[in-house]
Amino acid sequence: MTNRRDFFQSCTQSGAALCAMSYGAIAQAVPLEVKKYARTKLVNQQGLAIKATQISVRKNYLFHYPFESTPAFLLRMAAPVVGKKPLNTPKGDSWLALPGIGPGNAFVAFSAICAHKLAYPTPQLSFISFQEKQTNKIGQTSQDVIHCCADHSQYDVLAGAAVLSGPAPQALTGIVIEHDARTDELFAVGTLGVEVYDAFFAKYDFKLQMDHGNSARRMAGQASTLHLMDNYCKQTARCSG
Ligand code: FES
Repeated sequence: MTNRRDFFQSCTQSGAALCAMSYGAIAQAVPLEVKKYARTKLVNQQGLAIKATQISVRKNYLFHYPFESTPAFLLRMAAPVVGKKPLNTPKGDSWLALPGIGPGNAFVAFSAICAHKLAYPTPQLSFISFQEKQTNKIGQTSQDVIHCCADHSQYDVLAGAAVLSGPAPQALTGIVIEHDARTDELFAVGTLGVEVYDAFFAKYDFKLQMDHGNSARRMAGQASTLHLMDNYCKQTARCSG
């Protein structure tokens, strides 16, 4: 088996350019791991802990994590979410879809920032939302997708938000959540997948300042408010694939 040292020794014999390409491929093949952030409790508008059993099935819920301005979906599906599907990107990053957690193993969470051109839910409008069921123009139906109406990227909620169709280059970033079985409380603890937060902050710097002031890049901290999307966004675009 070729180890790192053997690899570089053979590089000196076979040409640096070829080796650089080959080593790039090897480095990119390492699966991504969970990136830990603060353990943030999901709470209601009054700051009281949300109970998992209070969450409706197949409804759009939003919270902000891992930053105060970065939105994420919390979804309770109708059946256990198996996860573990291999996900990857054109650049060679890979990871395994997270399984559902909590009652019925049915709770999953994903970043609500589209992996294409970073559309996201704002208090005024959202182009991206979970759609329980939708029918396209030629009568085909799909279920349990997150659909970004900006350019029609669709993500499969039951498969780690893998791209089903459209121009998005990769799955939505997974948000790692935990359930305390004793208290029935929910927590966000990290991310898994390719993060787009740097690009998000760069693209929306001015708007984020308007909506969140100086806290836009602040970490979510101990608690994040969970909203029904219809209560958070004045308008949500609906579209078919
Ligand atoms: S921004 Fe979502 S599909 Fe283009």
